[in-house]
Amino acid sequence: MLMAKVLATDGLDPECVEILQEKGHNVDLIHFDREALLSGAISGYHAVVVRSATKLDSEVLAANMSPGSCIRLIVRAGVGLDNIDLEKASDYGVIVKNTPTASTRAVVEFTIGHLLAGARNIPRSDRAMRSSIWAKKSSSGTELFGKNLGLVGYGRISRGVAQVAGMLGMNVHVYDPFIDDGVTIENTPIIHDSVDSLFSSCTHISIHCAMTEKTRGMVNYDLMKLMPDVSPDGIVCGRHIVNCARGGILNESDALRLLESGHIRSLGLDVFEKEPEGNPDLSAHPNMISTPHIGAATAEAQKRIGMEIVDLILSELDS
Ligand code: MLT
Repeated sequence: MLMAKVLATDGLDPECVEILQEKGHNVDLIHFDREALLSGAISGYHAVVVRSATKLDSEVLAANMSPGSCIRLIVRAGVGLDNIDLEKASDYGVIVKNTPTASTRAVVEFTIGHLLAGARNIPRSDRAMRSSIWAKKSSSGTELFGKNLGLVGYGRISRGVAQVAGMLGMNVHVYDPFIDDGVTIENTPIIHDSVDSLFSSCTHISIHCAMTEKTRGMVNYDLMKLMPDVSPDGIVCGRHIVNCARGGILNESDALRLLESGHIRSLGLDVFEKEPEGNPDLSAHPNMISTPHIGAATAEAQKRIGMEIVDLILSELDS
């Protein structure tokens, strides 16, 4: 078996590093900036493990795939592969893998946390308490029970959210052009045949689709304007949107306009058009709940991701 040089550019669980080292592999934990990536800094590694902070686009791949390059395997520690040019990698004969299931539970719980935080004004009340303000009256919220939750996309995470939201008494609605029938039977959500129909039916929306050229900017002013603010139980609960999937699916300047006009009651974003910059103008709004792309950041998920990575490296480099 090849004694491999493994690079993890955005961290790796220490136990996994130990396992790889015990098997005789050399593991470096180094974050290279773009300049270093463009000067071929990773070409000497057999396996490169990245999270979302490292972009392996066509330029970076070209800079590291000169004849004599060692790279055989790229592992995306997580779900989204949008930071890797898959076509280019395949042209160079590099295998690209991700860890699609390891962080599902973490992101499901986090999404529900964002929905609850927005509906019950938890971050806003906390900020008031820090300034010694007892904002009891202005912090009154609405329950998730009985509200229509619209899920954009119905993959693993979305299905997990549907299950928990159903247990909380929400009516789950779904739009996913790629939905398969086996899935719809499982949780019996209401299926919509267009994203407009989904938004027109739901006071609460959670985004769970992949970032593609089709979904970039899809959640825009016109779409968000379609949302009702009254739930089926007749409560004026306002409109609430959460995105723990990918930045850029929701148009941030449109969302800010709609927060400022009061059309959107709460906006929970874990992902931003620009990361790690975020969007300070949006984050400054009192009804905005911002987190720094930490949906998958739990000890349990990172351990599962690490163990999957170990298996991938051992099996792919052994063959
Ligand atoms: C993922 O795609 O798995 C998540 O966005 C996690 C991450 O990149 O931190």
